[in-house]
Amino acid sequence: MGLQTNLYFILLFVLLSLSWGQGSDPDGERSSCDHCDLQLSCNCSYGGFTSVPTVTDRALTLDLSFNNISMVTVNDLTGHARLRALSLHGNRIAAIHPSAFDSLWSLEELDLSDNQLTALNHKWFSKLGALQSLNLLNNPYSCLGSHPVFQSLVRLRRLWFGGPALEELKRGDLSGVTQLDELTVHANNLASYESGALGDIWPLGRVTLRLHGPFLRYDTDVASAVLGDVTYPETPIVLEDLHLITNESVQSFRETARRRIRSISFHNFSVSDEAIVNFLMVIDRAPVTTLIMDGVTLTGEGRWEPASWTDQKNIDEFFIRNVVVLDVFKFVSFLELRFLLQYPRKVSVINSQVFVMPCNTSHLLSSLQYLDLSDNLLTDMTLAETLCNGDGTLKDLRVLNISGNALKSFSMVSHLVEKLSKLTHLDISRNGYSSMPQGCSWPTTLRYLNISRAKLTTTTPCLPATLEVLDLSNNDLKSFFLILPALRELHLSGNKFLRLPPGWLFPSLQTLTIQSNTLNMFDRSDVQSYKRLQSLQAGQNKFVCSCDFVAFLQSGLKGGGHALLTDGDVHLTDGGESYVCDSPLYLQGEPVGRVRLSVVECHQVLFVSVICGMVLFAAVLVCVLLWRLHAFWYLKMTWAWLRAKRSSRRRRRYRDGAGSEPLLSYDAFVSYSERDASWVENFLVPELEDPRHNDGNSVNPRTPRPLTLCLHKRDFLPGHWIVDNIMSAMERSRRTVFVLSENFVQSDWCRYELDFSHFWLFDGNSGGDAAILILLEPLSKNDIPKRFCKLRKLMSSTTYLEWPQEEERSGEFWRSLRNALRGEEEEDD
Ligand SMILES: *[C@@H]1O[C@H](CO)[C@@H](O)[C@H](O)[C@H]1NC(C)=O
Ligand SMILES: *[C@@H]1O[C@H](CO)[C@@H](O)[C@H](O)[C@H]1NC(C)=O
Ligand SMILES: *[C@@H]1O[C@H](CO)[C@@H](O)[C@H](O)[C@H]1NC(C)=O
Ligand SMILES: *[C@@H]1O[C@H](CO)[C@@H](O)[C@H](O)[C@H]1NC(C)=O
Ligand SMILES: *[C@@H]1O[C@H](CO)[C@@H](O)[C@H](O)[C@H]1NC(C)=O
Ligand SMILES: *[C@@H]1O[C@H](CO)[C@@H](O)[C@H](O)[C@H]1NC(C)=O
Ligand SMILES: *[C@@H]1O[C@H](CO)[C@@H](O)[C@H](O)[C@H]1NC(C)=O
Repeated sequence: MGLQTNLYFILLFVLLSLSWGQGSDPDGERSSCDHCDLQLSCNCSYGGFTSVPTVTDRALTLDLSFNNISMVTVNDLTGHARLRALSLHGNRIAAIHPSAFDSLWSLEELDLSDNQLTALNHKWFSKLGALQSLNLLNNPYSCLGSHPVFQSLVRLRRLWFGGPALEELKRGDLSGVTQLDELTVHANNLASYESGALGDIWPLGRVTLRLHGPFLRYDTDVASAVLGDVTYPETPIVLEDLHLITNESVQSFRETARRRIRSISFHNFSVSDEAIVNFLMVIDRAPVTTLIMDGVTLTGEGRWEPASWTDQKNIDEFFIRNVVVLDVFKFVSFLELRFLLQYPRKVSVINSQVFVMPCNTSHLLSSLQYLDLSDNLLTDMTLAETLCNGDGTLKDLRVLNISGNALKSFSMVSHLVEKLSKLTHLDISRNGYSSMPQGCSWPTTLRYLNISRAKLTTTTPCLPATLEVLDLSNNDLKSFFLILPALRELHLSGNKFLRLPPGWLFPSLQTLTIQSNTLNMFDRSDVQSYKRLQSLQAGQNKFVCSCDFVAFLQSGLKGGGHALLTDGDVHLTDGGESYVCDSPLYLQGEPVGRVRLSVVECHQVLFVSVICGMVLFAAVLVCVLLWRLHAFWYLKMTWAWLRAKRSSRRRRRYRDGAGSEPLLSYDAFVSYSERDASWVENFLVPELEDPRHNDGNSVNPRTPRPLTLCLHKRDFLPGHWIVDNIMSAMERSRRTVFVLSENFVQSDWCRYELDFSHFWLFDGNSGGDAAILILLEPLSKNDIPKRFCKLRKLMSSTTYLEWPQEEERSGEFWRSLRNALRGEEEEDD
């Protein structure tokens, strides 16, 4: 029992979660779609929706095509009062709630084509007063319904309906529809047509009908009735999917011809010789001016001369495209068709494997002004035949289009058209022209020349100066240097231009397209060299986003939409988005309009100069400051001190290694300034080193022992660094005598010596007061610059001897000095 209950709950739970998972559950959450752009156009096609998703109420267009929506419920579209266009094309809609579209007040376009609607309901459309365009094609309804479905669509202008299932059209089915710009009815399987069903619509624009079945079934009544109802002189009729084989099938056109139809088109159409002959008979003397066949299969052999008695002089244009001739080898030439060919002014035979039109046929086309043989198999040779070797046949020709053939010789084509004295347009695009001669002759009337998609690498003066429109796009051109005074339009897109061609070559140019080249940039003066330019398209190039270029283009793009480049009204008509930076690398792919360059990048020279200037200024400032603070002096001192200390240590180590005692070779090292040398040499040295000589006449009983002095002039080893010498001298002297004077303070070396002595005093082992100061002239502590703090300290800590100004006191001075020098020695003794 317990197990069963559990199973039951599990089953219930699974069922519940399944139903929750289904987005289409009417009570469940509706899926939503937010693929809306800035214009509030929401594209939810191919979204896999099985029900109408929620979309913002503000949407103006909503594309729900190609989903799996099977029905439209009453609430699906509520709130969409602003919606203008709704497409439900390509779903599986089988049911629409009668009031589903009621809130779509503003709806102008509704597409319900390719769905599963088996019946149409007039209530769907009852509130769609604004609807202008309604597409109901390819739904499986067999009739339009008992109640007129379009009754309330007072604004309807374009209507598509029908499909493979449509079988019946009755009078009144289209009541309410009074005038249309476009009517399309797919009724390939129409079995019953009540005459007049389509007859009340007027004015009626273009009509497209698929009436395959009615034409084939020999009951020409249906086809004839339908055609008769929609035929008006100003209404072009397009007939699709017809299969005209027999005389009888063609008789349906009698009514059409009688109602003075002017333009008939056949699309996806197969036809026999018999049908053509009888068709020509049916439209004999009718005012048909335009006959268009697109996608034709000719099953016959071209034997149409049985109709040669008919009068076709109203025919003005033959347009034939995508013709397949089933039995091409049996097909006779058109030579017998003078009755047909002498009248039209416009003939197009496009993409129909034509490799030649014989010269004799060309002769027949005596009224021809426009010949389009594009996308065929013409070669230089067969073109020569077609144009009768350039003898001026087709003398009225104004437009010749031989685009998309296999032509190669540029001189040949210019020769062939030279005598066509009215030719204004020549389209030789998509051929194999790879070069052009230096000179060519052209009709003087030629205004338009299209040589796009060829293989040209250069242009020469062969191009006529009369040209107003020249298309050289998609070639291999790198430059263009020809004066074309009349040129208004020049197309150079898809080439290899590095810069804009100079504007003075084209004084009349108004439009220039040069997209997809290799332009790096262009500037205001480039653009201004074109005096009359109005429209420039230069996007998709390899732009180097320099500051000048970016600034120039952005000044133009500011206006949005069509940028205004210069005062001369030059517009960038291809929009700002196609101007994209290619370099520098960090800007690659960025639209020029959105690039922000910094000041650093844009004024590099200025920036670098300013920075350099500032650095220089700062350096000078620092130097001045350092100089003022005597930093160099301190630096020099420190350096010398460090070096001296190192070498002193080295010397000491060396001495210790040698095991010898520090050698005291001198009693004193005398440090003095060069300017005090005379005093030292004349007084100090004789007095101390040679006391006998000096005191010879004195009565001093005890002659003092001579002292040995170390003088830099005399005892320094030449070739050694002076600081080393000083150090070594001090180390080897018991005392250091400083001869202080103004001069001493000025001298660098003396200061070193002072410093080293100081260092020696505290660093060395001698200790004590190894320094003796002699003041040559009265010098107060305050006269000594502050930075000689050592000296100042020494002066305050050590007693100093003053050189007496009076001669008589000098003996006392020498005695004191000698005592000071000997003092320690005697104590040691
Ligand atoms: C929506 O997108 C599809 C391709 O996903 C495209 O074919 C269709 O034209 C778009 N519809 C609209 C209204 O832009
Ligand atoms: C619609 O559903 C069918 C099966 O139900 C599936 O095969 C098809 O791919 C779906 N189509 C789309 C556009 O999601
Ligand atoms: C052309 O018409 C035939 C009927 O004559 C039809 O079966 C075929 O689908 C049509 N082709 C196109 C591309 O419409
Ligand atoms: C074609 O049929 C019409 C009437 O049905 C007839 O008058 C005409 O002679 C026929 N034409 C040919 C060539 O059989
Ligand atoms: C072309 O017509 C001329 C007479 O008009 C004739 O002599 C010549 O044989 C014809 N050429 C061809 C190829 O039919
Ligand atoms: C020539 O034919 C091509 C292809 O059919 C077409 O694109 C072009 O516009 C035509 N040129 C003229 C001048 O009509
Ligand atoms: C020149 O011919 C090409 C290809 O046929 C066509 O796309 C282009 O629009 C033509 N150029 C002009 C200016 O008509």
